[in-house]
Amino acid sequence: MEKDEFIRIRNSYLTAAAPIRSSEHLKGRERGLASLVNALSSPGRHAFIHGHRGVGKTSLAQTAAFSLPGRADPIIAACERNGSFGQVVSDIIKKALQLNPLETKTARNLNLGASFAGFGGNFGLSGEKAPLEVNIKSISDAVFCFQSCVKFLGRDLVVLIDEFDQLPPTEAASFAHFLKQLSDQNVPVTLILCGIAESVESLFEEHASVFRQVHTEKVERLGLTPRMEIIQDAAGALNIEIESGFSGRIAQISDGWPSFVHLIADKVFTSAYDAGEKRVTKQSYEMGLKEAVSSVELTLKRQYETALHKNQKKYEHVIWAVSADKFLDVNLDMVWSHYIWICNQINVSPVDRNNVTTKLNQMCKSDYGKIILKPRRANYTFSEKMMRAYARLRAESDGGVQLGAENPTP
Ligand SMILES: Nc1ncnc2c1ncn2[C@@H]1O[C@H](COP(=O)(O)OP(=O)(O)OP(=O)(O)O)[C@@H](O)[C@H]1O
Ligand SMILES: [Mg+2]
Repeated sequence: MEKDEFIRIRNSYLTAAAPIRSSEHLKGRERGLASLVNALSSPGRHAFIHGHRGVGKTSLAQTAAFSLPGRADPIIAACERNGSFGQVVSDIIKKALQLNPLETKTARNLNLGASFAGFGGNFGLSGEKAPLEVNIKSISDAVFCFQSCVKFLGRDLVVLIDEFDQLPPTEAASFAHFLKQLSDQNVPVTLILCGIAESVESLFEEHASVFRQVHTEKVERLGLTPRMEIIQDAAGALNIEIESGFSGRIAQISDGWPSFVHLIADKVFTSAYDAGEKRVTKQSYEMGLKEAVSSVELTLKRQYETALHKNQKKYEHVIWAVSADKFLDVNLDMVWSHYIWICNQINVSPVDRNNVTTKLNQMCKSDYGKIILKPRRANYTFSEKMMRAYARLRAESDGGVQLGAENPTP
């Protein structure tokens, strides 16, 4: 296989940097996808998709939005930090009407038809050449705009609003009222909201009546089988064999964060291809892990380095110990037993238990990047859950220690 062809196939199967839109590549989400499609097929229903950062929310949301039967392609918008309800709605309307924000046009050129005539002023379409602004000042403006949009396009709309957690609570609350208005007024628009859960949970409680119209779907980390499927599918397409020992390790290191499965598999297969192998060898596996370590996103790397305080020996094994457990929140006793196991594996003499506790507590401070949180007494967890995968990757690549919940330490 030529390199170009290899890269083309690799990039279509291993997409660490892009969300998935097709059910063929979306692994392990059959149930969630089916219940979303089912719920969103009934009129007046909306959906909220939530889960930890990087768990695969956008992929599930986009695949669902693109697979609703008999519906046009969704409009996809994302919220910005400190964005507003008005900005998001305006962005959606512009996308629906395919207005180019860089262009200036007159109302006549736009030919939006009678349905928008009454709204001309708010659109900045006074007949003069002016930037295309859609000024949404209230929830009823937004409802009116959506109604007009649906009428103008002659079809209903599917709208995916991603990164919903970025909105300040008051702006998110406007969306709650907006959802209710859309349903009450029978506007044929389906909204799919997508975001990290915690910040939005309170919204659910406050607006319980609204959220009865909302199907919620929690996205969990990927199970072991779908992780293996991602790797096996890529292996098949690239025509490079991989032993279950290696693919199993990639799956375990990833800890169920799909971007890690994609990233590590990508680097391992690329190393194998570059070495002219038909079958992944130990060398190309290890080379792949090294490559993966250096391509992990900067935010994770930076936090890890800050936590190390330039002292790999003192802190790193404790970080690894937190990443080794099968639970996201780890009890101190478990951290300790993982720590001892790790030290034995690499022939390092362990520090005493008080020392480990001190280090754990230090790493909760901003000086140490707050890499660890203490959700309850004597319990520890990474502030960024994906860190578990990065720590396992570092442990195996730099320290030769194989960590993973599926391979429990004694
Ligand atoms: N079910 C899946 N099967 C295979 N790959 C997946 C799956 N879900 C997500 N991915 C891959 O994992 C990566 C992260 O997915 P996605 O962007 O959907 O996560 P997210 O939860 O929206 O992340 P963020 O919180 O950063 O927005 C993407 O590269 C995507 O290709
Ligand atoms: Mg996302």
